[in-house]
Amino acid sequence: MQQPIGIFDSGVGGTSIWKEIQKMLPNEDVVYLADSLNAPYGTKSKEEILRLSIKNTELLLEKGCKLIVVACNTATTNAIDYLRTTYEVPFVGIEPAIKPATLQTKTKKVGILATKGTLSSSLFHNTTKLYAAGITVIEQQGKGLVELIEAGRTDSSEMKELLQSYVNPMLEKDIDCLVLGCTHYPYLIPLLKEIVPSEINIIDSGEAVARQTMALLKKNKLLNVSNTAIAHKFYTNSPTKVLHSLVAGPNVEISYLDF
Ligand code: DGL
Repeated sequence: MQQPIGIFDSGVGGTSIWKEIQKMLPNEDVVYLADSLNAPYGTKSKEEILRLSIKNTELLLEKGCKLIVVACNTATTNAIDYLRTTYEVPFVGIEPAIKPATLQTKTKKVGILATKGTLSSSLFHNTTKLYAAGITVIEQQGKGLVELIEAGRTDSSEMKELLQSYVNPMLEKDIDCLVLGCTHYPYLIPLLKEIVPSEINIIDSGEAVARQTMALLKKNKLLNVSNTAIAHKFYTNSPTKVLHSLVAGPNVEISYLDF
C-alpha cells in the first residue's frame, strides 16, 4: 500500500528511529512530525502527554498514514494504550530495552536513563517487574538532556558534564548495561563512549522498533509494493535548523508547519 508510515516524537529524537526504519524499509514513504514546540514531553503530566499524542496522531491520519510509529518512549508509555483502542490504524511503540539488558548483564545491575514521564509510567513499572526479577535496575532521569539536543547543543561541554553527573553514579554501582530509554539519547552515544568504559553495553531500541514496524506492515498487508519514488516528509513546529542537521537524503523534505 502506497500510503506513508507516520512517525511522531516530542521533537527531533524520533529521527534516530526513522534512520532504522528507512534502512530496513527503503521502499516506504514517511511523514514525520517533530513536536519540538512542546518538547520536552518528559516533564509533562500524563494528561498533557496524552493530549499531545492525540493531536499528533490525528494530524498523521489527516495526512493519510497507514501505520503510526510513536517514536517517543514518553508518549508510548503514557498514551499508546489509548491510541490503540481509539484509532483503527496499527501503532508501533517504543519502550526502554529493559528485557535485552537483563539478558545481557553479568553484574546483574542495569542502568536506565530516561525521562521522568517514562520512569513514572505504569507501563515501564510493569515491564521492569516482568523482566528484571533478580536484577537491580538503577533509574536515572535525564533532566535537561532533551532540551540541549533540541537546541542543537548535543556536543557541548555542558552536555558532557550533565551526562557525567548522571552516568558516573550508575557506574559506581557496578552497572554493565546502560539502557537509553529516550529516542533523543542515541545522539549522545559518541559522548557517552568518551565517558563510560568500553565494556559497558549501551542499549537502545531503534532496531527493534524498525523490525516491529516491518512485521506489522507485513501482517496487515500494508507494505508498499509499487515502484514509485519515495518521499520522506518532515514537519516541525519550530525552526528547522536542528532537524536539518540530523536528517538528510535525496528524498528528504523538511518544512515548518503550525500544529
Ligand atoms: N524522545 C522522547 C522520548 O523518547 C523525549 C521525551 C521528551 O520530550 O522529554 O521519551
